[in-house]
Amino acid sequence: MPEETPLGRRLCRVTESRASGGYRVFSLLDEDGPEPQPGQFYMLATESHWEQGGGRPFLPRALSVAETGDARGGVRLDFLIEGIGPGTDRLCELVEGEGVWVNGPLGNAFAPPRELAAGAAGAILVGGGIGIAPLAGLRGRFAERNIPTRVLLGFRDEAHSGGLDDLFSCCEVRLASEDGHVGHQGYVTDLLAKMLEGDDAASAAVYACGPPPMLAAVQALCERNKVPCELAMESPMACGFGACYGCAVPKPDGGFLRLCVDGPVIRCA
Ligand SMILES: Cc1cc2nc3c(=O)[nH]c(=O)nc-3n(C[C@H](O)[C@H](O)[C@H](O)COP(=O)(O)OP(=O)(O)OC[C@H]3O[C@@H](n4cnc5c(N)ncnc54)[C@H](O)[C@@H]3O)c2cc1C
Ligand code: FES
Repeated sequence: MPEETPLGRRLCRVTESRASGGYRVFSLLDEDGPEPQPGQFYMLATESHWEQGGGRPFLPRALSVAETGDARGGVRLDFLIEGIGPGTDRLCELVEGEGVWVNGPLGNAFAPPRELAAGAAGAILVGGGIGIAPLAGLRGRFAERNIPTRVLLGFRDEAHSGGLDDLFSCCEVRLASEDGHVGHQGYVTDLLAKMLEGDDAASAAVYACGPPPMLAAVQALCERNKVPCELAMESPMACGFGACYGCAVPKPDGGFLRLCVDGPVIRCA
């Protein structure tokens, strides 16, 4: 029996860590935890040098699981990360063999499209920036189930992009970039708008993760075209399992939801 329950905090080892464009990908071997579902996340803290400058980051940091796989002795968890502060910077420094405390998998997961009839348009995945992470595993899951899936990814510029060769190499991806270094020059939502205006949009389902303005634009486009969507959202998280209310966001119809337990995936009709 493992010492910790599957959802308890446990120590995992880094099996790989490498640059991926402007981001990094690292893998952990989770010997005791269950296989996560696409959309779920983990709270992570390094075993050493976590409370560096002035005690920060102190609290663990939330990361979506990007991909998973079987590994000798457990489950392989792949994460895509962008260093933007003390916690993510420290996780970007990880080297093979280091220990990482993990808690998870946490939160809910993306659900497959409701419309699975032959000829249905299937899934459209829309990712922006580091928000492409949870869509990698989702694409793989839909491929296993023969769900037709189209992938649209957008980046601000070359420095704020990555993960394509490591996580999306085996599928066709349509790209957009605000600086025009790759793909359509503009927003990824321009690509989505065009796709939803196509004649097969009615039976599509959209899955999106990215910065809040991108998610708002995705939701508005889906509403206008009467296409269901699921949005993986973010808010600052302290515990990750419902205890602190640090991640509370207002609901459109009043009240609050805790994004760590009621999300991070929010379903929009
Ligand atoms: C469910 C979930 C999944 C995530 N998945 C990934 C992932 O796969 N890869 C990845 O690189 N990052 C991911 N993040 C974001 C990551 O958790 C934050 O970037 C990280 O906590 C920042 O910590 P830091 O110490 O590096 O920087 P900090 O100094 O703590 O933050 C830097 C800046 O970002 C803001 N900020 C921090 N966290 C958030 C947040 N969650 N939402 C909005 N603003 C925030 C702060 O206010 C500050 O301005 C995810 C967050 C959530 C909630
Ligand atoms: S992060 Fe503590 S309640 Fe959600």
